[in-house]
Amino acid sequence: MIKKKITLPPEHIYPLDDWKIIQQKFAPKYLAQDETVFATGNGYLGFRGNHEEGTPVIQRGTYINGFHEQWPIQYGESAYGFAKTGQTMLNVTDSKVIRLYVDDEPFYLPTADLKSYRRVLDMKEGALHREILWETASGKQVSINTTRIVSFEHRHVAAICYEVKVLNTPAKLIVSSKMRCPTEDMGENDGKDPRKSRKFNHNVLLPRVNRVDQQRVLLGHEVHTSKMTIACGVDHEIQTKNSYSYKSECYEDSAKIVYTVHAQAQESFRLIKYMVYHSSRSSPVTELCGRSERTLDSLMQEGFDKLIQGQQHFMDGFWSRCDLKANMYNDKRTQQCLRFNLFHILQASARVEGTGIGARGLTGEAYEGHYFWDTEIYLMPFLIYTSPKVAKNLLRFRYSLLDKARKRARELNQKGALFPWRTITGDEASAFFAAGTAQYHINADIIYALRKYVEVTGDEEFLFEYGAEMLIETARLWADLGFYSQNGKDEFHIHGVTGPDEYTAIVNNNAFTNMMARENLRYAVESLKLLQGKRPERFEALAQETGLANAEIDEWEKIAEKMYIPYDMEKGIHPQDDEFLKKEIWDFENTPTSHYPLLLHYHPLVIYRFQVIKQADVVMGMFLLGHEFSQAQKKRNFDYYDPLTTGDSSLSSCVYSILAFELGYLDRAMELIKYAAWMDLADVGGNVKDGAHIASMGGTWMAIVYGLAGLRDYGGKISFNPKLPPKAQEVRFPLTIRGQMLELILQKDAVTYLLKKGDDLTIYHTGEAVHLTKKHPSKTKSLIANASE
Ligand code: BGC
Repeated sequence: MIKKKITLPPEHIYPLDDWKIIQQKFAPKYLAQDETVFATGNGYLGFRGNHEEGTPVIQRGTYINGFHEQWPIQYGESAYGFAKTGQTMLNVTDSKVIRLYVDDEPFYLPTADLKSYRRVLDMKEGALHREILWETASGKQVSINTTRIVSFEHRHVAAICYEVKVLNTPAKLIVSSKMRCPTEDMGENDGKDPRKSRKFNHNVLLPRVNRVDQQRVLLGHEVHTSKMTIACGVDHEIQTKNSYSYKSECYEDSAKIVYTVHAQAQESFRLIKYMVYHSSRSSPVTELCGRSERTLDSLMQEGFDKLIQGQQHFMDGFWSRCDLKANMYNDKRTQQCLRFNLFHILQASARVEGTGIGARGLTGEAYEGHYFWDTEIYLMPFLIYTSPKVAKNLLRFRYSLLDKARKRARELNQKGALFPWRTITGDEASAFFAAGTAQYHINADIIYALRKYVEVTGDEEFLFEYGAEMLIETARLWADLGFYSQNGKDEFHIHGVTGPDEYTAIVNNNAFTNMMARENLRYAVESLKLLQGKRPERFEALAQETGLANAEIDEWEKIAEKMYIPYDMEKGIHPQDDEFLKKEIWDFENTPTSHYPLLLHYHPLVIYRFQVIKQADVVMGMFLLGHEFSQAQKKRNFDYYDPLTTGDSSLSSCVYSILAFELGYLDRAMELIKYAAWMDLADVGGNVKDGAHIASMGGTWMAIVYGLAGLRDYGGKISFNPKLPPKAQEVRFPLTIRGQMLELILQKDAVTYLLKKGDDLTIYHTGEAVHLTKKHPSKTKSLIANASE
């Protein structure tokens, strides 16, 4: 029931190309959204796609994952246990600005006479290029070529190669390479869109170090309240036959190296700017400056070409593990969108070490750089099957927050641990508890991802060393949160929670939450028994540390058995919660398209009163725990909930498409995949300017792999039930399973399973075992039988 129409990006903005996002004309109208589209990052460091010249700009953006300011949340009316400390990812020192003057005429994109312009995000290379031919007022033809990378190989490093050449005559060039600590973080947010970031009223980044040595500058800052520290260092390498000189200036919050170049016609001036960021929660700024100097030393020694080679090597590895080739709608656009989505997931996740992944990655400020369930439910499947090390880092990060989760549970008068709905530091940062803290399902989402990770990778060690402890504490929370109902039916109920659908809040027995909690409890019981059998000494140590008694495990087993899952016998569907079906149905007929998303046009109370859904809830349950539903139930649930779902959250359409595939609603499935796949390039939600929808990007991959190819992996059994809709010609993708690589090749009437790496793998095709070995690595199966709608 998504109301938005997908509008094609006008051809002149992003021409079709499988591997590139190309902009052929400078387009001020799309400046804000292009800053997101052309963003570069590596999961630690991210740059918005601002132009090198620094202006024009809508949102200047340089972000370090997890680098934040804290502030006391002000409530008009506070109450016990409300989240106290807001956390906001900061916009840090902008080092990417390089200004150009030719015979004193500034190069300014909006007014420049551009003879040619081309900006290319090359997803194969992992680089952003820009090629411009500018004619100055006096007729000098200036070619300006830039290449920008944020290195995947070197976590703290970015670089820009800025090359200027005057083609037809000599000229005097001024090239000014700048650094600037932003002040935009001060001032008020207009508060109209709750998804946007906040602004501060105080100076956030306090200057601590500024020093310059020839062409090298270091600026160090400390964050006012969070006390985090950061150093940003830049150094320059010049390659030219032109004569030039430079002057350096350095202040507390800014610096510049200004090059004066006597350029000969056709003789280029090539400036390579290396940019290095180090940040910390505890190290002094001076130490970070020292680290930055060392990183700069080695960059200057190795040079730009080496950096580019490293980037290419990394990208080759990425695409060989992750590429999704799809000819689905007889168009090229979808292929471009799919790669774009995977590339942005890479940019959000590649070097996350000790942090999570923000809802917009490092491309914008919406949702304040907070980590949500987006990571575990929408990104983890892709990461587990393509980059298991990254998946492990993310789980280890959650583990590192376990103590805070224990503390939070105590605050909410609960046993065990409660992970925060949204956070950077591990403390709950959601100021709107009804759609925040109340989403207790976050606990079960994390455990769901843990289980998938362990089952797909076979990393039992991780389960025993880290997972088991998380399982104990999350299981305790559920056991303590719910209760045996007094209705005489011996059922375990969970009251006063919010499920994934944020248009319905604080309800009793949200079906999704209860099912996921049951799964959490079951996995806890299963894993602890396994641990006890396989590693009794570790089990004993853990039991000691956590005060675990065997009776507790038995109790969890019983609760799981008795967990109440709402079911309406008359309709034959799972009500979203105890009250949902009693509510009035939202008047969709008379809701103008301009009133979506509803959250920007109606008070939450109005929305809560109706059967109207923001995003997949029961349908999400049917995807994650599909084996718990019969096909007939799935169909009835889908038919009931799909028309009630607005898709106001970008996290919705991908999940509905997976179920639509399973149910054989192929047209609907294809329509829904398109929403997810095109979400950012076609700006389906109208807010790409605020950052890329990273969860939906992961959802696109799931829609193809779990939807179209019908992967199901519950319990580690890998099975496929592919359905290639009539329009689709070919889809292929690799999956890493327990260290082996399987490739699926779906063509019109057949699917081929190819073991590309590894010795021995058994998977299932529509229930039938397919055994692949090094000697017989490939099997082809017909798709004719299940192709019809
Ligand atoms: C969705 C949440 C999601 C958050 C961040 C909200 O609009 O309702 O499910 O976690 O955005 O992406």
